[in-house]
Amino acid sequence: MSLEGKRPFKFWIIIGMSFLLMLAYLLATAPEPLVGSEEVKFAMSTEEALTLLAHENDVTRTLYTRAIVGKGKEQGLQFSEDWQHQEVIAGPLPALFLRGVADYLTSSDVPLGLYLGSDFPIESSNRFQGKQAEEFKKMRADGKPKIFRDEVLGETIGMYPDLATAKACVSCHNDHENTTKSDWVLGDLMGATTWSYPGDSVTTDEFLSMLLAYRSGVAEVWERYLEEVEQLEEEARPAVGEKWPSSGFNLPNASVFQDSVASQSSPYLVNELTKLIDSN
Ligand code: HEC
Repeated sequence: MSLEGKRPFKFWIIIGMSFLLMLAYLLATAPEPLVGSEEVKFAMSTEEALTLLAHENDVTRTLYTRAIVGKGKEQGLQFSEDWQHQEVIAGPLPALFLRGVADYLTSSDVPLGLYLGSDFPIESSNRFQGKQAEEFKKMRADGKPKIFRDEVLGETIGMYPDLATAKACVSCHNDHENTTKSDWVLGDLMGATTWSYPGDSVTTDEFLSMLLAYRSGVAEVWERYLEEVEQLEEEARPAVGEKWPSSGFNLPNASVFQDSVASQSSPYLVNELTKLIDSN
């Protein structure tokens, strides 16, 4: 299967339809707003919701790193940690793509937090502190996600392994002038994406708002990237549309990029939501 996840059109129609059906079912069975002493029916624990989001984020991050940064560089596209500076015309590094989504979430109405940290960070503000540093140590030992309550903030925190899934992760981090570790290898645990959300369970509506907020953040960062690209001289500007850097000097437009993420993450979402419905 290619990076962009090409499958027969029919396959995605079926997956798409089942996902929509599932959402329709969930919405139809969503709890009524609180009336008097009526009980609110929660659809899932916050832990389950964060785990679904972490998967969506993994798919997005891996697609961006491999199919856009990795393949794009081979075509001559530039990516920089200074991509936001006015004089730099480049795409965001993978970590900064994620930071852009995190900033979008902070400014949105959805109280969902996202942070990418490590015990050996390039950027010192990405170093885990306190309880998160302790939990990350445990993740170093067993490689498993860590979910816990922050009693002070009343939030559920979910930390998910961030692995060196592409050669580019390793070479860029090892060679970076501010690196704090220069012997990363493919497959290493490089850090963790940390999510936070108030409370310990969410309704279906809340989960959908979380997922949609994340996707809107991705769309917004993608649009900002395409705005950078538009500033390039014509001969240095890739064609933006249906095609990917794997097939030439191209960049997918926002909807093509997002369709690819959705087609890769939907089977998992449908599966997990089915299990949650079954167990409720
Ligand atoms: C071309 C360079 C480059 C590539 C490729 C790259 N990173 Fe990074 N990464 C950086 C830089 C620079 C930062 C610090 C950005 C900031 O926060 O200012 C960073 C930040 C991070 C952080 C947060 C901790 C830290 O080091 O500051 C993690 C974890 C991380 N990257 C993992 C990865 C993984 C996993 C991949 C591959 C999927 C990857 N990176 C690909 C350059 C890169």
